[in-house]
Amino acid sequence: MDSAVDPQPRFEEKDFEAALRPKALAEFEGQPRVRDQLGLVLDAARHRGTSPDHVLLSGPPGLGKTTLAMIIAAELGVNLRISSGPAIQHAGDLAAILSGLDAGDVLFLDEIHRLARPAEEMLYLAMEDFRVDVIVGKGPGATAIPIDLPPFTLVGATTRAGLLPGPLRDRFGFTGQLEFYDAADLAGIVAASAGKLGVRLADGADQEIASRSRGTPRIANRLLRRVRDYTQVAGEDFVTVAHARAALELYEVDERGLDRLDRAVLGNLCTLFGGGPVGLSTLALSVGEETETVSEVAEPFLIREGLMMRTPRGRVATTAGWRHMRLEPPAGETPLFV
Ligand SMILES: Nc1ncnc2c1ncn2[C@@H]1O[C@H](COP(=O)(O)OP(=O)(O)O)[C@@H](O)[C@H]1O
Ligand SMILES: [Mg+2]
Repeated sequence: MDSAVDPQPRFEEKDFEAALRPKALAEFEGQPRVRDQLGLVLDAARHRGTSPDHVLLSGPPGLGKTTLAMIIAAELGVNLRISSGPAIQHAGDLAAILSGLDAGDVLFLDEIHRLARPAEEMLYLAMEDFRVDVIVGKGPGATAIPIDLPPFTLVGATTRAGLLPGPLRDRFGFTGQLEFYDAADLAGIVAASAGKLGVRLADGADQEIASRSRGTPRIANRLLRRVRDYTQVAGEDFVTVAHARAALELYEVDERGLDRLDRAVLGNLCTLFGGGPVGLSTLALSVGEETETVSEVAEPFLIREGLMMRTPRGRVATTAGWRHMRLEPPAGETPLFV
């Protein structure tokens, strides 16, 4: 997808993201509740000299789950092993990862809701009893050979906590639910990132970028980079509010932070489907995107902004949604609140 603010990192952006990641809990801006609670979990573990409880981090893409996993390992001074639900095809893959852990390691499993069933069941035992049963042979002659694991801390990340089976969710001692960031926290992140990149921001430029970043640090950092590029090409070394506005207009990020995909979804909902209700798959087809991209990237933001709704009969544009697209909502009709 070529959207300017696609919240999934693209390959060439990995280095950029890595450079901007806060390395310690104290540098992690915003999310005061999660930060305080996690700080306590880590302090208590350090105090006892044991591994902390398993940690589940949930929330939309780009809010800091991977960053927090890295911070947990760094704060504990231990190794971080990284894998993900989709990368683990068989229980054997997980057994290999688990049996390679050293005492105290942090194992980060991204997109843990996408773990295959057999691997998930192996993980229950590993999390609870620090043991895996490796099955040798097939059929009635098969035997389970138990292998003891060193104590470790699992950090799971998911964008869809609701999809995690109860038994898995229950085995995490601590769950951190990341929320979208408010404008002030995001402005702080933009300012900190600008500092790391050596970009000089005029008063208010950080707020201008933050206000269009959809509550998401990954998007804030990405927009900052676009603005920096624009300013450099313009031959200036100081980012003004006007530069920020002009750059973001060029990249089709509107004043409320809607990007091209958001605007296409909302625009089609109004103009092609009369404001709905229309089914997700039809709407996604109309903008040429996967249903998942529309439902996980565009919609949560549009819904949070009060521009559209999900109803049992389909997607519906709100009056505010029509107005944001500079369209008149159909006369005489009340919106389909259910
Ligand atoms: N609280 C924060 N403070 C500063 N930067 C952050 C914060 N949260 C996320 N970021 C930055 O946003 C980007 C995306 O964060 P990441 O942890 O990869 O998100 P997720 O894993 O939830 O998709 C990274 O470049 C990271 O440095
Ligand atoms: Mg991540």
